[in-house]
Amino acid sequence: MLPPAARLAARRLLGLASSSASEAAARRLAPSPIAASSCAAAARGSVPSSRPFSTALNYHIDSPENKPGMKWEFSEANMKKVKEILSHYPSNYKQSGIIPLLDLAQQQHGGWVPVAAMDAIAKIVEVAPIRVYEVATFYTMFNRTKVGKYHLLVCGTTPCMIRGSREIEDTLLEHLGVKRNEVTSDGLFSVGEMECMGCCVNAPMIAVADYSKGSEGYTYNYYEDLTPKRVVEIVEMLRRGETPPRGTQHPERKNCGPAGGNTTLHGEPKPPPCRDLDAC
Ligand code: FES
Repeated sequence: MLPPAARLAARRLLGLASSSASEAAARRLAPSPIAASSCAAAARGSVPSSRPFSTALNYHIDSPENKPGMKWEFSEANMKKVKEILSHYPSNYKQSGIIPLLDLAQQQHGGWVPVAAMDAIAKIVEVAPIRVYEVATFYTMFNRTKVGKYHLLVCGTTPCMIRGSREIEDTLLEHLGVKRNEVTSDGLFSVGEMECMGCCVNAPMIAVADYSKGSEGYTYNYYEDLTPKRVVEIVEMLRRGETPPRGTQHPERKNCGPAGGNTTLHGEPKPPPCRDLDAC
């Protein structure tokens, strides 16, 4: 019998209602100090249920649509891209192509990478499958469970957080009727979290990974200077198949300049004066 804290943590991790299922899941968790402290935090109720953990599960559970031994291969068009990608690396360092190949597999497979795709990549680059698994599980950009055709990634790092990213995420989750990392029942949307995407000057922001047109039409766009109202408008434009204007959503900002226009640097900067070295 597991301690109550471990059962509670497993239920929160997996969103499971059944205590027997959560106990089975908890037994799969390694009894590490980190897991123990997470369990303790969960038991204290100090982790709000809407923001339990920043990423999806970092271990694999077999399911009918995602287990080793399933057939998976790159499409004919993508096999040409695979060859092109591998041509960038020496033939004895094919494993350097693991990240771009995982990215291509994710685009082809509707936004996530099943174990069978990782195994196919391991064969192509001639390494043990664990070498691909360890890359796919390290980088949170690789989704190992299904995502929506539009995967909305909310930046949760400090500048975006103090500019309202939590309100943006809460609005998205409420509007779409999902929890983080869940997919809407029509398969169109999912909401995840990312760390700083380098756009803090226009915080808060989200990235939208669009898998609706396969790997050929894949796009990854930023939407910045968001408000709860604007992020809902963007979602509804995507639902209608429209392309919302990417970048800043602030009506008075151009790119990353100050809202309302420049306040300094109005003209060409003067070159520095030449120093008269002889005068010294
Ligand atoms: S903190 Fe959000 S983009 Fe940098």
